[in-house]
Amino acid sequence: MAQKVFITGASSGIGEALAYVYAHKGAVLGLAARRTDRLEQVAERCRELGGHPHIYTLDVADQSACQLTAKQFIEDAGGIDTVIANAGVGGKDKITSGDPEHINRILRINIMGVTNTVIPFLPSMKEQKSGQVAIISSIAGTRGLIGHGGYSASKAALRIMTDSWEYTLRRHNITTTTIYPGWIETEMTANIKNKMWFLMDADTAAKKIIGTINKGKRSYILPWQWNIIVPIMRIIPRGLIRMLTTK
Ligand SMILES: NC(=O)c1ccc[n+]([C@@H]2O[C@H](COP(=O)([O-])OP(=O)(O)OC[C@H]3O[C@@H](n4cnc5c(N)ncnc54)[C@H](OP(=O)(O)O)[C@@H]3O)[C@@H](O)[C@H]2O)c1
Repeated sequence: MAQKVFITGASSGIGEALAYVYAHKGAVLGLAARRTDRLEQVAERCRELGGHPHIYTLDVADQSACQLTAKQFIEDAGGIDTVIANAGVGGKDKITSGDPEHINRILRINIMGVTNTVIPFLPSMKEQKSGQVAIISSIAGTRGLIGHGGYSASKAALRIMTDSWEYTLRRHNITTTTIYPGWIETEMTANIKNKMWFLMDADTAAKKIIGTINKGKRSYILPWQWNIIVPIMRIIPRGLIRMLTTK
């Protein structure tokens, strides 16, 4: 039977690439994001690849819209096997601007967007005693990145939250996989001028992410080189970071 997969942030980047890999396997797809025109293009390509897409124009920060969309997807697809909370935004905190909205927007989309996406599917997964939950965090959640405290905090929050959820969901035979990407070639990184170490294309990332979800692994860092760098990032003294980043 075709796998039923719901993906947020499916209009570009990693989410779009995930959709194509699942489409190739003949999955029934729920593709959610705010840009409907882009979702339509992704859906078209998914159909060509053999998938069965349904599109949902959705802002993941909107709790009731997410609940309605989850219900609608379960109805459209005839159930749910896998939910991937991938939608996310970057951006600077701009804390000295005096306007908290810059950072609040990031926290709302990247944290509440995940709870809004995943939790409405859990009663069905609990009832059927199976399911896969995957959440896209980031290696940026390892330390507070300069100027990007909101983004780092949001991704660190996902690490802690899913660490906790895994105990609960495991009892219901639902796997929880948290993904920690390094640099991936998408719209999010398109304007970054600095060198992006170990940059990986979104298609390769998507295949690796899906492989990990299917193995039921609890966490996954990609590209692999970051497995060495992340533990070092955790212990670099603040003084050294200050020295290296002071212009
Ligand atoms: N690229 C990287 O290097 C990298 C590294 C680590 C982690 N990540 C994470 O990977 C995930 C995907 O990012 P990406 O790199 O693929 O960037 P991207 O191409 O910019 O994709 C972001 C996706 O999230 C959607 N989105 C943003 N805000 C939304 C909202 N409020 N409601 C619904 N959808 C929303 C966007 O669609 P709409 O604009 O159409 O809504 C888009 O489809 C993010 O969580 C990001 O933090 C990326």
